[in-house]
Amino acid sequence: MNKIRCMINDVQYEIEGLPPTMSLLHYLRDVLHLTGTKEGCNEGDCGACTVVFKDASAKPEPRYRAVNSCLVLLPMLHGKKFYTIEGLAKGEKRHPVQDAILEHYASQCGYCTPGVAMSLFEATYRHDMTQPWQFDEQMAGNLCRCTGYRPIKECVHALAGTGNDDFADKLREPEMALDTLDYEYDGVRFYMPVTLDEACDFKSSHSDAMIVSGSSDVSVLINKHARKCANFMCLINVPELKEVTIDETGLHIGSAARLANLEAMCQDKFVPFGRILRFFASHQIKQIATVGGSVGGASPVGDFAPVLMALNASVRLISSRGIRSIPMSEFILGYRKTSLEVDEFIYAFDVPPIPDNARCASYKISKRLELDISSVSGTCYVETDDKNIVTVARLSFGGVAAVAGARAKLAEAALIGKEWNEANVEAAAKAMEGDFTPISDMRASAWYRKTVACNILRGFYLETLENHVPARLYRPTSTLQLEQ
Ligand SMILES: Cc1cc2nc3c(=O)[nH]c(=O)nc-3n(C[C@H](O)[C@H](O)[C@H](O)COP(=O)(O)OP(=O)(O)OC[C@H]3O[C@@H](n4cnc5c(N)ncnc54)[C@H](O)[C@@H]3O)c2cc1C
Ligand code: FES
Ligand code: FES
Repeated sequence: MNKIRCMINDVQYEIEGLPPTMSLLHYLRDVLHLTGTKEGCNEGDCGACTVVFKDASAKPEPRYRAVNSCLVLLPMLHGKKFYTIEGLAKGEKRHPVQDAILEHYASQCGYCTPGVAMSLFEATYRHDMTQPWQFDEQMAGNLCRCTGYRPIKECVHALAGTGNDDFADKLREPEMALDTLDYEYDGVRFYMPVTLDEACDFKSSHSDAMIVSGSSDVSVLINKHARKCANFMCLINVPELKEVTIDETGLHIGSAARLANLEAMCQDKFVPFGRILRFFASHQIKQIATVGGSVGGASPVGDFAPVLMALNASVRLISSRGIRSIPMSEFILGYRKTSLEVDEFIYAFDVPPIPDNARCASYKISKRLELDISSVSGTCYVETDDKNIVTVARLSFGGVAAVAGARAKLAEAALIGKEWNEANVEAAAKAMEGDFTPISDMRASAWYRKTVACNILRGFYLETLENHVPARLYRPTSTLQLEQ
């Protein structure tokens, strides 16, 4: 058993004698009395608790990443350097972020301001903010109900990429050594391996262990549903699980790869992933959350299962017995049920290349554009031959059935062998009405879900008339437009 070693605001800490299920937010506020970081929702929705950590393994260069401290479990601090709002000013000298907030009048009640400041801090040291959507996305995880977003948006435009001080120098400093953490308190064990072998061995001897990747779901279960578990195994320090590669064999996504990395890589290639990720959760959540966590929980409203199903992905599962690869369609068995054996976990997802004769696009429909769970999400994939006849159709949806990534089999059958034209697509959309019997809940009625799924197919036909794999058009998520 060992201690959690980390640095917070350049001070080294060795943590023991605290529950591994304690969040970083509560450690900061209740143990270190760093109460600048605020608690709003305690479930990743408001951004008041935002802090940053240094991601030494980021490509092409180390960078800071803003995350929700309410979703970070204490052992996940191991081997990392974090900064909180208290770490910004040096004595009487304010940080440029603090000056910008003052100059632009970007704070009123101040409750959200520490979180806003930490997201602005990250932007200050980012060198990849070249697109308008990145400025919207940077602040999408920070609610502010009183100042209004104009001054906050002015700040992010003023600050992005300007950081050239000792915090920039710190990015070049050597990282803390990362070793395997085996942490236990009060009968709860939290294991964080650094090799695949260690991970497989632990899972085969602790079949009850709850797998944790980014913990954005698991922390909500702990914070809001008092979920108890004797053993946790967190995979985010195993390098092989964090890789994302694109080559001639397709897209390969390690189960513990950050969604933010996948999003950056899928702007021009495997565009359906880039499209869905733009409106997936928030910037902070994408910096920790993973595809393994999205699919591992087999949530029927998860946004990834439809994309993976429609693009005919397979899942590699690993245990100490070896690796097996199965199609996504065989992985999801039912409501929150997967074909994982008790000693297995997800290693990676393999997505084949998208051929030239394919059309595909992903869609997410939610009440709010950003930081909202889908009412319906869907990915459509169609291949046609040289006579424009449909040879392959995979239409996969979230939010319309109990299973993740449900296929619209009737609509697919109505398309196969037919010419790809508006009349036949309309017939398939009508057939799709028989595919699903969704439920009504607070997000959407059954009628709405079914209607929207059919309309996604109609919209897909129109959107792919010219460009077969269309990129997402930029739509500002605020009414406010600033000069770039
Ligand atoms: C505020 C908020 C907004 C969200 N918005 C969205 C959204 O827009 N769209 C969406 O789809 N989801 C959303 N989510 C849900 C969730 O964040 C995502 O599904 C995320 O991808 C989960 O990844 P994670 O790595 O954090 O999972 P974790 O919390 O670490 O794990 C989630 C589940 O997957 C299992 N698991 C994790 N890794 C593996 C593995 N390698 N092998 C087997 N099982 C594994 C865990 O045991 C657990 O059951 C949101 C969550 C929050 C809190
Ligand atoms: S307290 Fe709201 S996101 Fe953490
Ligand atoms: S300053 Fe953000 S809610 Fe008041």
